[in-house]
Formats: sequence, C-alpha cells, structure tokens
Amino acid sequence: MTSRPYTLLSCAVSIDGYLDDSSEQRLLLSNGADFDAVDEARAGCDAILVGANTVRRDDPRLVIRDPARRADRVARGLPPDPLKATVTTGGDLDPGSRFFTVGESEKLVYSPSPPTHLDGVATVVPAGDLRAVLADLAGRGVRRLMVEGGATILAALLADGLADELRLAIAPRFVGDPAAPRFNGCPGRTPVLAGVTDLDGVAVLRYLLSQAAVDRHWLEAAIDEARRCPPSRAAFSVGAVIVDAAGREISRGYSRESDPVVHAEESALAKVDPADPRLAGATIYSSLEPCSVRRSRPASCAALIRAAGIPRVVYAWREPVLFVDGEGAEELDVAGVEVVQVPDLEPAARAVNAHLL
Ligand SMILES: NC(=O)c1ccc[n+]([C@@H]2O[C@H](COP(=O)([O-])OP(=O)(O)OC[C@H]3O[C@@H](n4cnc5c(N)ncnc54)[C@H](OP(=O)(O)O)[C@@H]3O)[C@@H](O)[C@H]2O)c1
Ligand SMILES: [Zn+2]
Repeated sequence: MTSRPYTLLSCAVSIDGYLDDSSEQRLLLSNGADFDAVDEARAGCDAILVGANTVRRDDPRLVIRDPARRADRVARGLPPDPLKATVTTGGDLDPGSRFFTVGESEKLVYSPSPPTHLDGVATVVPAGDLRAVLADLAGRGVRRLMVEGGATILAALLADGLADELRLAIAPRFVGDPAAPRFNGCPGRTPVLAGVTDLDGVAVLRYLLSQAAVDRHWLEAAIDEARRCPPSRAAFSVGAVIVDAAGREISRGYSRESDPVVHAEESALAKVDPADPRLAGATIYSSLEPCSVRRSRPASCAALIRAAGIPRVVYAWREPVLFVDGEGAEELDVAGVEVVQVPDLEPAARAVNAHLL
C-alpha cells in the first residue's frame, strides 16, 4: 500500500533560479512548446496541487487545454481535467479565483483550520501537514500528483522527502531581483538526471528524486528493451538493464539478443566485466521475474545474478506458469538479494508478450 501518490514537482525558473519577479504582474517563464509539454504532463496526472499563494498571486486555471488530451482522458474513463488541490493555513482564498471557477474537476482545499466561505465551491478538508494532504489524496484514488508551485510548497515537499520527480524548465532569461521568489531545494538529496530537452530555447531537465522514481525509470527502460526481442512462440520477450548505485546505466540486454536462447539478464550480464566494482552496489531491472529453472541452459538468471554479486533486483511481472514453474524471486530473496516488484508496470511488461498469453 502506498501512503502517498507518485509526486511530480514542476516549475519554470529563470537562468538565475527565480520562479517569478517581485512585480504584481505574474512573470511568464515558459514558452508555447513548454506550456504544451506541461499540458501533456498534466493530462497524465490524477491531481494538480498548488500553494494558496500561487492561487492568490497567479490566479492559474490548472486545466488541460488540448481538446484531444481531454477527450483521451474521458475515453480512459477519467474526468477531462485532473482534480485540483490547494493548501492554506490562513484560508484567505477568493471563491471567484479561476482555481475554483474554471474546469469541471473537483476542487479540494486542505487546511488545519478549514475556512467556511468556500462551502459550495470546493471540498474543504482538515489536514495538519503535507504528508497528511498527500495521504488524503491517495485515499481519494490519486496515484499520480503534479505539484505546480509555488516556492514554499515545492521547498517543503523536497525537505520532507515527499517528491519523486522534478521537471525543471529553465527559461533563457535573468531576473536578478533578490526580492523575488526562488526555487529552493534541499541539500543532502542527490537527484538523478534522467532527461534534457530543448523546447524552443527553454531547457527542460527531468530529475529523479526518490528510489521509487529511479526504479520506475529503469524498469520502463527494461520494458522498452523487451520490445527489441526477436519474436518467439516458445519463450518470453524480456528486457533487462543493470544500473549502478548512482543511478547510471552499466549495461542492458534482451532475450535472444546474441543467440536463440539467451535470456535478457544473461545478455546484460555478459556485457559486464565480472570484476567491475560497480556490480557490488548495482540493481538489475528486468521486465520479468528472473528465472530459477530453465530448459535451455544449466545456469538460471537468478543463479547468474547471485554469482555476479548484484545485491538488488527490481522486476515488473511475476513469471506466469507457462513454460516452467519459476521461483526466481524466492530464490534470490533467500540468498539475501533485495527483490522488489513494481506491479504498476506489470501490464506494460505483459503487453510485450500478448501473443503468448
Ligand atoms: N515559475 C513557476 O513555475 C511558478 C509556479 C507556481 C508559482 N510560482 C510563483 O511562486 C510564488 C508563490 O510562491 P509562494 O512560496 O509565495 O507560495 P505557495 O507555495 O504557492 O503557497 C504558500 C502558501 O501555501 C500555504 N501552505 C504552505 N504550506 C502549507 C502547509 N503545510 N499547510 C497548510 N498550508 C500551507 C500557505 O497558505 P496561506 O498563506 O493561505 O496560509 C502558504 O502561505 C508566486 O510569485 C508565483 O508566481 C512560480
Ligand atoms: Zn532467465
């Protein structure tokens, strides 16, 4: 059971790290291409959270603009817009602000001392701290949350270790105004850079902040690798990626990559020097649970992983009893290897093998 949604922080800053200037007017830091990418990211989320001061100062709409994305959500059985949520201590929120008046989604206001003047425009929920806010959102079925500022809420989530991912757009301009709000991080965290994109001059950096985010990122890469497998009627299509303790790739492989019976984990391991010191802190990501028995070769992937000294295995799909009855996860666990399944990604790992199922 997750006690909070997967939480994606999103903000745009100037080159010198400001989220706004200190004028009354909202400073627009993104361009059309970035705005469209944010729209896409919103469409993939169940809820959007902002601090009350962002509602007061920026008066954002926080809805999905693109009609095709709205229609796609409806086709997937979702409301056209994600749920909107804000947090306030003082309760000073105008019921006429666009947060409340625009869009068909439910609006939630979290406050330790719930204001009464918002009755009818929002659901007001008593909540002590941000951890409680996120837990309440999870309880309402929010699995993926996007946090769109401002400075206080972003810094608080980072400081409390409640963020999984950061999307940071850097606009090609300077603000240079010490009175303006800045994006403040939290020393001690070591984000993993997972993507750099140039959107018409706005640099968009994607950082992974939590182990869950790192695991999801590399497991998705392993599932992508599985799509490269030569088709077979007699064996699964599987992908594997080996990643070091700092979140950097060591090697990758897929089933039947180098010969007709090689397994994905075996193929990825074959590309690493067995004496590579990074293996002792590595994680192997596999779209399918590593095998414990196989018909084609004497050594199972579970045995190869143990022999390589890899201390951690993350997989998406528990091996179904189709070709052999495997117990790779148990075998690795008993051997002291940390084994993690990410069941959320099981459908994607299965989909690559739809022809066998
Ligand atoms: N560039 C960007 O991507 C971007 C995005 C969003 C915002 N911004 C900028 O950021 C600035 C606003 O940032 P900000 O730091 O002033 O405000 P903020 O983070 O938007 O909101 C802070 C407010 O949230 C409430 N709050 C925070 N933590 C809380 C908690 N744990 N429990 C209950 N309530 C809590 C309080 O509301 P009350 O005061 O009501 O008690 C607090 O004053 C604006 O200048 C805006 O333009 C920039
Ligand atoms: Zn295997």
